[in-house]
Amino acid sequence: MDYAATRQEALTRIAAAQDLEVLEKLRVEFLGKQGSVSALLKTLGAMSPEQRQAEGPQIHALREGVTEALASRKAGLESAALEARLAAETVDLSLPAPEAPRGTVHPVSQVMDELAEIFADLGFAVASGPEIEDDWHNFTALNMPESHPARAMHDTFYFPEEEGQSGRMLLRTHTSPVQIRTMLKDGAPLRIIAPGRVYRSDSDATHTPMFHQVEGLVIDKGIHLGHLKWTLETFLKAFFEREDIVLRLRPSYFPFTEPSVEVDVGFALVNGPDGKSRRVLGGSGDAPGHGWMELLGSGMVNRKVIEFGGLDPDEWQGFAFGIGVDRLAMLKYGMDDLRAFFDGDQRWLAHYGFSALDVPTLSGGVGTPA
Ligand code: PHE
Repeated sequence: MDYAATRQEALTRIAAAQDLEVLEKLRVEFLGKQGSVSALLKTLGAMSPEQRQAEGPQIHALREGVTEALASRKAGLESAALEARLAAETVDLSLPAPEAPRGTVHPVSQVMDELAEIFADLGFAVASGPEIEDDWHNFTALNMPESHPARAMHDTFYFPEEEGQSGRMLLRTHTSPVQIRTMLKDGAPLRIIAPGRVYRSDSDATHTPMFHQVEGLVIDKGIHLGHLKWTLETFLKAFFEREDIVLRLRPSYFPFTEPSVEVDVGFALVNGPDGKSRRVLGGSGDAPGHGWMELLGSGMVNRKVIEFGGLDPDEWQGFAFGIGVDRLAMLKYGMDDLRAFFDGDQRWLAHYGFSALDVPTLSGGVGTPA
């Protein structure tokens, strides 16, 4: 068997292949299961040791040579095809731009902008923190030590433990760690909101593994629950653009606030144009045909949390709240499935999105759909 001649013939045919299809046929002919080079490899098993020692390297070299030739011819054909396409395709930069801007602002971004605008008017700055957070900021400093049962309620995404690291890294489960970061960085007094992404291992029509919260934190002297209630009421009236918003404060529990209050907002059930009943915020939830809807968690900042933030709780007090931004968007703009928020469906975005040029302002209206 003249392996050198076989190899030469194969290489000549490969070099002559004019397109990828022909090349693929050659690959099958030589190296496929029933291919001629594959068949030669199989003869090795039946050879005597001496013969194998003599012919084995030649057969392997043949296979390698053919494999390499196929690969380099393939690369050559592909780059030639790309060159040809690049030469043929041109962009006409003199074409006119589309009549109207096509992009829209996602409702979540819109609501975040509205929140920042309203709270800026109340003297709040915008703060932020990392989404990849450490255990200490997300839990311990918020008065949830290692074995605290509230940790289990958070369905946390943890990163793998690394050696020599105290406490695991995680995807923050709420925006509350920004409370700690801001106190440590800026001291007191403070008035901030912190909007951003948070993560929990949970998914259905009303829960997505990533969602958005806005945290609020006020630290000053002589702060009490009345300040919290006024702030939330003022914010919600501005956000929903109606004066008849009624809040109900319910005692609740969060490790980082004491006392803790959950805040419900009153709504009325009315018949929409499509005959289906829908909720319209406003009025007391106790009135006939009305109800209460849970909106947010809040409370007076726990003394221990103020200490973890590096401040003296005898001198400084504060309140904090955490609101689901996606929920606010759904309520204000009438969407009913949270998952659609993150599908990236152009039609949904075109329908619910906001004009990129219409920035929310208090004077011009905080939320006018595109
Ligand atoms: N961090 C809480 C949550 O995610 C909300 C909250 C924030 C409650 C601030 C009280 C004060 O559920």
